Amino acid sequence: MDYLEIVGGGSLSGEVEISGAKNSALPILASALLCKNPLRIKNLPDVADVKTLAKLLEHLGSEMQWVSPNELLIASDRIIHTKAVYDIVRKMRASILVLGPLLSRFGKCEVSLPGGCAIGARPVDLHIKAMEKMGAEISIEGGYIIAKASSGLKGSDIVFDKITVTGTENVLMAAALAKGVTRIVNAAKEPEVIQLCEILQKAGVEIEGIGSNELCVRGTNGELLDFKEINVIADRIEAGTYLCAGAITNSSITLKNVSPHHLEAVVGKLQEIGFTIETTSNTLKILPSHKRNAFEIITTEYPGFPTDMQAQFMALASQCEGSSFIEERLFENRFMHVSELQRLGANISLRGNVAKITGGERLIGADVMATDLRASSALILAGLVAEGNTQVHRIYHLDRGYERLEEKFSTLGAQIRRLKEK
Ligand code: UD1
Repeated sequence: MDYLEIVGGGSLSGEVEISGAKNSALPILASALLCKNPLRIKNLPDVADVKTLAKLLEHLGSEMQWVSPNELLIASDRIIHTKAVYDIVRKMRASILVLGPLLSRFGKCEVSLPGGCAIGARPVDLHIKAMEKMGAEISIEGGYIIAKASSGLKGSDIVFDKITVTGTENVLMAAALAKGVTRIVNAAKEPEVIQLCEILQKAGVEIEGIGSNELCVRGTNGELLDFKEINVIADRIEAGTYLCAGAITNSSITLKNVSPHHLEAVVGKLQEIGFTIETTSNTLKILPSHKRNAFEIITTEYPGFPTDMQAQFMALASQCEGSSFIEERLFENRFMHVSELQRLGANISLRGNVAKITGGERLIGADVMATDLRASSALILAGLVAEGNTQVHRIYHLDRGYERLEEKFSTLGAQIRRLKEK
């Protein structure tokens, strides 16, 4: 197993190229199951989660041709299985994204339950209820979701109790081949959901309400889709993480290949803290600030402040003046980075789903353990300003979603290297 060693204390500078969005790449890959022609996907991030889903699709019978680590040609005309096996699904919760496409194309499938997750229970009940509403019969047997829709899925009104990103994406893909119109109320409107809508629309599916909380999808009644070449949008969470790297080390960093309008909540918060952010149509530049003010964050659905950026801002709060407050509203157990940040010396107290971070403490390097994907990046950020050496263990969490992380940080001048555990 690998770990990262960081020597903190230096400042950063320079430019960093942002990769394609993992959370957009995953539903796009799953949507390849709806495709009649080979699908070319560009700007795929070279990260473990993408490889895991690609492996799952390969197992189902898709043919993969990797043109480069960031470009894939995928043909799904000869699917031989409709069972998403535990061994692959357990590695990544987002594997549930094959449920909608498999069911709508083949009228049956078995998908292993993703199971528990480090950041809370994260059930898939809303995905299941939606498929049932569209006419599927579903049972849970032996840890698998067994779904059947012998006469195909039918368009229906789906009203989500809670806004769910992958739930909305699953219904969109199911609705694309269903018979009739599916109305999704209380739909997620994250940029990744919008990209999936646009791709389906270009492939011939009529969709109304893109970018709103209510989507109307007219299905093709089983006819497979004719996808055009896809360019995955930029990863707004990776971009936000590098902005935080600039902020915590009080350095000037330029991000290239970003969509600034996807980062308004994050940029707004950094400006509130005291940073100047310069924006062009596809770059963002953070400039150092002479004073970093404490702040308050409540995580919520897009376009609000993303839960996936909460841990990074907690690390940043340790370097701000005064007490900052972070309230986590989406996931009940997403504060596991707190104890690790405390090991580095951060002054954090927790009450329920609210963390109070009092800035101004010196951070001192230590051994810390990554617990989930975004928590790991918070530890890297803290390590950049901690005195001495920080070793971040269990970085397979990090490899799930950050492409060439230590290479990108090294280019910015960070002292960071990947080593093997003894
Ligand atoms: C997606 C993102 C993840 C991000 C999250 C919230 C992907 C691959 N992952 O995860 O990075 O942190 O959105 O922005 O895109 N819920 C239920 N029942 C369900 C489904 C969800 O109760 O069937 C709850 C969840 O426990 C959570 C809330 O709904 O409290 C939102 O979760 P959801 O939007 O579904 O998260 P994911 O799609 O898994």
